[in-house]
Amino acid sequence: MRRNGKMKLGVMLWSLGYHEGAWLDPSVPANGGADIDYYAHLAALAEAAAFHFVFVPDSPSVIHEDYATIARVSRSAVLEPITLLSALSSRTQHIGLVGTATTTYHQPYHLARMFASLDHLSRGRAAWNIVTSGFKSEAANFGDKELPDHGSRYARAREFVEVVKGLWDTWEDDAFIRDKQTGIFADTTKLHVLNHRGDCLSVRGPLNIARPPQGYPVLVQAGASDTGIRFAAEVAEVVFTAAPSLELGKRYYATVKEKSRALGRDDQVLVMPGIVPIVGRTKQEASEKLKKLQSYTHIDVQIGTANRLLGSVTDLRSVNLDSLVPETLPETNFTKSRQNLLLDLAASHKLTWRQLIRMASDSLGHLMVVGTPDEIADVMVDAFDQHAADGFNVLPATFPDGLKDFIELVVPELRRRGKFRSRYSGQTLRENLGLERPLNQFTCRQV
Ligand SMILES: Cc1cc2nc3c(=O)[nH]c(=O)nc-3n(C[C@H](O)[C@H](O)[C@H](O)COP(=O)(O)O)c2cc1C
Repeated sequence: MRRNGKMKLGVMLWSLGYHEGAWLDPSVPANGGADIDYYAHLAALAEAAAFHFVFVPDSPSVIHEDYATIARVSRSAVLEPITLLSALSSRTQHIGLVGTATTTYHQPYHLARMFASLDHLSRGRAAWNIVTSGFKSEAANFGDKELPDHGSRYARAREFVEVVKGLWDTWEDDAFIRDKQTGIFADTTKLHVLNHRGDCLSVRGPLNIARPPQGYPVLVQAGASDTGIRFAAEVAEVVFTAAPSLELGKRYYATVKEKSRALGRDDQVLVMPGIVPIVGRTKQEASEKLKKLQSYTHIDVQIGTANRLLGSVTDLRSVNLDSLVPETLPETNFTKSRQNLLLDLAASHKLTWRQLIRMASDSLGHLMVVGTPDEIADVMVDAFDQHAADGFNVLPATFPDGLKDFIELVVPELRRRGKFRSRYSGQTLRENLGLERPLNQFTCRQV
């Protein structure tokens, strides 16, 4: 993968906008979360702007824990990602389709089939955002009292991905000959049964679908702890991250590239941090947009979100909101790295609880840029040029207007500076991202 001077762009389709207050804005269709036309419209906007992908996040649970928050957020009424992306595959032609699925509570055989199917349906545009479950709310939906510990989740994830890749390689690319003369449909010398028996999983195979058009759908991951980054360096081709400053972004980028270089694959790993752009024709207009969204967000929601991101280890309803955030909190078994990130932000900016809670609610720890198209483009180009990013996962605060503003105002500015393309160059997502098509591991071994 060569950077070729241009950044990659994806857009996260999360509910009605990345900001928790989004659904209350008059411009936002509050019933969009389960409406295919709503998502198809957003995907069409992104595709017309030559974005590399749309990305659907997920948790198989209602992620908020208390009813006061659940009552006021829109995120408990969304579509399951693989189902949604399968529908979008027939409403789009070029754009990549990135879906999230957890390795903690799925079975690899099911997931290998589903992502292979999505890759066939979309003619090579599928990608899998590989996550380990970090939400407390997920455990009880699958018969567990608690989530497995962080290390065990990653151990299973590592084995899970190996199994899924092995299943995708069941059939060599040319195994299905479909010869009506001889009556032979499949060349079984090109069939490889996995027979996997490991520490966490036991899967025989073979998979009942032809090898995906891309070989493997593109593998996406967002590890941020030491274990998570090591895993990303080993398997990910696109890495998402929350990097709220240029310095943190550069550090994360260097770490991922260094670890993947040690494995000989740094040229096959793209780092794409999130950015929440609040675009205004003037800085004041942008600030007013943010203030409006904040005014929609009830304090119960802000506290619920901050509490979750900090790992549910403290009762934020009983703290003095105007006191300084302490340097440490009890360790969490949920998303450790996001707790660290927020505590580091609080320490470096000497934030009070009220300020941190607001920041967590606004951007969930991602970089938020409130300004003119020029100012937003400056930040993105700096991060790209200074090797903090190979591109961005754009997290519009509201849909559809937050995405439209970015496309109509910021994208032209990026193009004017030669940093973003105007049209698709390849057919598959891999081709568009400049990633290699993986060889079949069984064929490689025979050579
Ligand atoms: C942009 C972005 C999107 C993410 N999307 C999801 C998601 O959809 N579902 C999920 O369970 N975790 C999601 N995560 C969390 C990551 O998978 C990961 O758990 C997190 O970054 C912490 O890494 P760690 O486990 O190494 O601490 C996302 C993270 C980022 C930065």
